[in-house]
Amino acid sequence: MNSKFYIIVFAISSFSNCILFPIQKEESNDNLLFAALGLLASRSDWVWDLPPGFPVPFVPSENPMSIAKVELGRHLFNEKALSGNETMSCGSCHIQSLAFSDGKDFPSGITSEVHPRNSQHLSNVAYLPRLTWNNPRMTSLEVQARVPMFGENPIELGLSSNSFIDKIKSKTIYQTLFTNAYGNADSAVNEQNIRFALASFQRSMISGNSRFDQYTFRNNKSALTASEIRGLNLFNGEVAECFHCHGGFNFTDTSLHSGTQEEFFYHSNGIHDDTYYAGVPSNKRGLYDLTGIASDTGKFRAPSLRNIGVTYPYMHDGSFMCDDANNPEKPAGSGKTKTDCARDALTKVVDHYRSGGQNHSGKDSTLIRAFTITNSQRDDMVNFLLSLTDEEFLTNPKFASPF
Ligand code: HEC
Ligand code: HEC
Repeated sequence: MNSKFYIIVFAISSFSNCILFPIQKEESNDNLLFAALGLLASRSDWVWDLPPGFPVPFVPSENPMSIAKVELGRHLFNEKALSGNETMSCGSCHIQSLAFSDGKDFPSGITSEVHPRNSQHLSNVAYLPRLTWNNPRMTSLEVQARVPMFGENPIELGLSSNSFIDKIKSKTIYQTLFTNAYGNADSAVNEQNIRFALASFQRSMISGNSRFDQYTFRNNKSALTASEIRGLNLFNGEVAECFHCHGGFNFTDTSLHSGTQEEFFYHSNGIHDDTYYAGVPSNKRGLYDLTGIASDTGKFRAPSLRNIGVTYPYMHDGSFMCDDANNPEKPAGSGKTKTDCARDALTKVVDHYRSGGQNHSGKDSTLIRAFTITNSQRDDMVNFLLSLTDEEFLTNPKFASPF
């Protein structure tokens, strides 16, 4: 039997096993075989189990999805050996119960240096062709992971040498996980494969079973209350105009999925009253930091509003928080329920929009302008926003830390 044929037969017959079990010892020196297995396993076993109404995410051809890679990524996402002093992981700033945000206005990394922007939630990050609050050059999850891993401004995970590779290699569990994902543990434990597995795991984080989804896509007309339905209609109406920037199944106008062109936009929603151009603090400059164009000051990507009920404090600077006179910095410690806190903060957000934003001359003045709704309509809108929480996503063991 020629060796190619042998590889394919072996791969097909044992490929479901090799996801769960390390490959048997007699083959362990055959790199060619492993490489072929890794390739076949990673190309063929992923099936998107998408919620109704959700398109197939775009997946870069150089990093196809596989069950084994997603499982490896889930471990690496929570692996503290992936930080300079082994105290933090991606999961330290991206917590599942908070839709992978972290409940703080600004997080800090391993040296306690404070990040100038708020930790973003990661629900449906697979559909975003531009990542982070304001960086149009951040075009893929594969590339983005470099920033928290190696970034120095600010320091997040603070990896500076290759010693993390040896630390990962030395853990038995990664011998198995890398072999399953890439066919070979020794040479496969490298910086690129780590980022690629992290990206695959994050791409799998699909959230589409909120009460809004049940109402809209699963034909469960009793899933939303009358108030929430009124709020949904206001959100999608021409008075409040929210949908122009937070539209579509993912509640953002930045989107890419199979069969479409990517779309991305940056807007200023007028959340600050800084003097335009001069004296704008560095964390509020938005797109300007990347383009240097004065009129880009204060422009940010409109975030997806999915799971907004658990991702406060809101905005790139976490400035819309829960009311708590005693401890404004730590809304989670205020003794209020999560929903009370989200309601406080979302009420401030909708009030901000209805007043037309603050006096920020760079804001998008056609869409961010004062409008008239009653307080009770505002509360409807807040109720609707709270219906976007997908409890299944927040507790699904598929996305949980294995440690
Ligand atoms: C110190 C806290 C911290 C750690 C650790 C951290 N992140 Fe983040 N993450 C953030 C912040 C803050 C942002 C917003 C960044 C910005 O706008 O510049 C962010 C943004 C992101 C985004 C963009 C989301 C979007 O909607 O565009 C992704 C993806 C992401 N992080 C993944 C990761 C991964 C993967 C790791 C581990 C390798 C990680 N993060 C570690 C704080 C952190
Ligand atoms: C012109 C585009 C635009 C319109 C219209 C708009 N938004 Fe936004 N929205 C944004 C941008 C941009 C941000 C992020 C701004 C920042 O961080 O500085 C944002 C942030 C938010 C956030 C916080 C999200 C988070 O993860 O922190 C909420 C909630 C929100 N908007 C709700 C609404 C509602 C409700 C409406 C309608 C009343 C609305 N938006 C109308 C662009 C818009």
